[in-house]
Amino acid sequence: MKICCIGAGYVGGPTMAMIAKQCPEIQVHVVDLNESRIAAWNSSQLPVYEPGLDEVVREARDRNLFFSCKVESAIAEADIIFISVNTPTKAFGQGAGRAANLEFVEKCARQIARVSKGHKIIVEKSTVPVRTAAAVRQILASEANNATFDVLSNPEFLAEGTAVADLLRPDRVLIGGDGAAAVEKLANIYARWVPRERILTTNLWSSELSKLTANAFLAQRVSSINSISALCEATGADVDEVARAIGSDSRIGPKFLKASVGFGGSCFQKDILNLVYLCEHFGLPEVAHYWEQVVLMNQHQKSRFSRQIASSMNNTLSDKKIAIWGFAFKKDTNDTRETPAIDVCIDLIGERARLAIYDPQVDSQTIVHDLTKALGERGRKGELDWLRDHVQIVDDPYVAADQAQAVAVLTEWDQFRTIDSERLSKLMVGPKLIFDGRRVIDADRMNLAGLSVYRIGQGFRWARAAVSGA
Ligand code: UDX
Ligand code: UDX
Repeated sequence: MKICCIGAGYVGGPTMAMIAKQCPEIQVHVVDLNESRIAAWNSSQLPVYEPGLDEVVREARDRNLFFSCKVESAIAEADIIFISVNTPTKAFGQGAGRAANLEFVEKCARQIARVSKGHKIIVEKSTVPVRTAAAVRQILASEANNATFDVLSNPEFLAEGTAVADLLRPDRVLIGGDGAAAVEKLANIYARWVPRERILTTNLWSSELSKLTANAFLAQRVSSINSISALCEATGADVDEVARAIGSDSRIGPKFLKASVGFGGSCFQKDILNLVYLCEHFGLPEVAHYWEQVVLMNQHQKSRFSRQIASSMNNTLSDKKIAIWGFAFKKDTNDTRETPAIDVCIDLIGERARLAIYDPQVDSQTIVHDLTKALGERGRKGELDWLRDHVQIVDDPYVAADQAQAVAVLTEWDQFRTIDSERLSKLMVGPKLIFDGRRVIDADRMNLAGLSVYRIGQGFRWARAAVSGA
């Protein structure tokens, strides 16, 4: 059997590497238009940082796992073709800012139709709006030369940073489709390492909708706990204690109740906006409005955090140095798509703060590119000079904090849990504030060293010196 996957991104690359590792007799060919990305997959420096991924790729690569730009020949040879290209939010035309841009998915369908012979199974791996499979089928039927197709939906639920573990032991694999034989063929691949009872089969539309719904529910939990974090700060409650208390109720459960500076990542916002657009399209404005609140609460949480920094520093950040610890949207990934760090940094640049940004996995070009793009998109090109002259990217958290008045922790990297508080205190200058947007800083230790700590969902824990000096 031969598999082709179009799209060597965060989803296509790791997923195909796992299939190839688990099924050595299946030839897996991952193709992409982006030559440098393919070169990276073929090198020792993979384009995606994921714990454990190097070993999986090393085991299967050049045995039965291949990466190349030969899209058409890989399609022509394959029995099963996964479409795993990106489906970003539409930036133009009808539905701009909400609907998914299916341009790349449709292009893939056309290309598949053009070069295919015989029978092939097409698998939607990309997250798509409900009923996309109907459009894919229609393109395949109208453009194919005597080839026949089954179209299946097989959304991916892996989370970045834990992709390998999620692929190895998924809570479930979801396969939607009408052709029983095709569904069985795909199920048999996963059954090589996933217990049968975890392989769920549904109709196509349920499968497509389940992916959007799963992400909407997960994001909703984060927005819900974040909304309560604001109330905790106002009342003296502690959001971690509240999360523990409610999470012990087995109906609620303990996961995904970590208050934060906001959720990021390529999926949550995009998928909820897509859901909102679908609801509007199907004449359900109240349902659309309900889900839109999840995104609005997330935006509020990010700006609430920036405002907290400003208000704690006399509403004057102009020319003050602030260290930014963490830029990725979560730990254990180099991905910065929709990271809350972009919004917070842009807010601080707006206040003319000087920033020194440190992240252990995100490279400096990506950070500069993201901030430049965000300023452009918000009509603030006039601030590009400030970005160039007053924002540094550094490769050490202590260097970032040197001569800084404040540190903002925006990603929960483990190394921030064990920061040397005495060393940090010596490097920083007053008022020596730490704004912990991820609750990873040991406030007691920091307080002893003379640093005051604001924690999301708890408020300030003041250093003794700050209290007696106040
Ligand atoms: C995936 C899914 O596709 C997306 O719908 C889902 O919501 C999240 O996961 P991801 O793997 O994160 O996206 O996207 P990305 O890392 O951008 O990878 C997509 C790849 O497809 C890119 O490498 C891009 O070069 C490639 N591509 C895109 C093609 O090869 N051909 C195209 O026509 C378009
Ligand atoms: C998500 C889904 O979890 C995954 O199933 C889907 O396939 C893709 O989208 P991902 O975006 O990679 O995965 O990461 P996830 O772990 O879900 O985190 C998303 C964001 O929410 C991150 O910014 C994270 O920091 C934040 N988050 C998560 C919280 O702030 N609090 C939590 O309790 C959990």
